[in-house]
Amino acid sequence: MNRILVTGANGQIGSELVGFLRESYGTDNVIASDISETSKTRGIYEVLDVMNYDRFLEVAKKYEVDAIIHLAALLSYKAEQNPVLAFDLNIGGLLNSLEVAKEIKAQHFSPSSIGAFGPSSPMIDTPQVTVQRPTTMYGITKVTGELLMDYYFNKFGVDTRSVRFPGLISHKTLPGGGTTDYAVACYYDALKDKKSICYLKEDTKLDMMYMPDALNAIVDLMEADSKDLIHRNAYNISSMSVTPKEFEESIQKIIPDFEMIYEIDPLRQAIADSWPEKMDIHWAQEEFNFLYFYDLDAMTQDMIDQLKKGA
Ligand code: SER
Repeated sequence: MNRILVTGANGQIGSELVGFLRESYGTDNVIASDISETSKTRGIYEVLDVMNYDRFLEVAKKYEVDAIIHLAALLSYKAEQNPVLAFDLNIGGLLNSLEVAKEIKAQHFSPSSIGAFGPSSPMIDTPQVTVQRPTTMYGITKVTGELLMDYYFNKFGVDTRSVRFPGLISHKTLPGGGTTDYAVACYYDALKDKKSICYLKEDTKLDMMYMPDALNAIVDLMEADSKDLIHRNAYNISSMSVTPKEFEESIQKIIPDFEMIYEIDPLRQAIADSWPEKMDIHWAQEEFNFLYFYDLDAMTQDMIDQLKKGA
């Protein structure tokens, strides 16, 4: 990658990835774009609705990008509330992104998710290649996305790469409309009023990862040698498998009177129950040397330190 277009740059991943990429690739070599009129980061920014193919192509050509990191999408909970919009945006936006990548011969990354699995997938040590019959619209768009990215690689030679992200925890931009959002919110709430309402049961175990590890994974995958990537769309990656109770206990090590209050939301509980508890990540380790540095307590410490600094 030399010059990179990032869509959905104002979102949870994008707002951190843009700055991270600019440090390594140069400020002017990372073009942030989002549907919003205003940018969350300094530097080059273009207003881009990914549903508009002509505009997408225009922006990509204007900056002569050689890589597209396509992040614009609806998350799982929001997608369940508006499944038709989720299908249109998650699939239509990705299709446009792949078409642009094909047209300008760019490398392409777009994330898949733990949501690409469903209740008939093995829940523990979920294999890289296994049954994928998700029961959410989000999951349907993610499996379709994986297949589309494979299709563009096999049929048109587009250098597509992807990972199945677990729940991502970060301190810059709140996620919007995901099932794993509670894991971010509890840190903000812990500092604000020492209690957080969790809409999942205390023993709901899900894969999670701290944002710095997720950003490194994107770059490591994009910089890996193409010939090593047998499972290119999309690699299982995760760095911890955690319940809300374990988040609560980890935060209590720093803020002893923190309390998680469990008020279960049936919709988000049903989504979480259909997802893996712990994925097998060894193909990512083998094929692009996927590494992570943060376990739960290290992440908790850093989240709290960072949020205090920003407060
Ligand atoms: N964090 C996402 C969500 O909860 C999963 O990919 O929707």
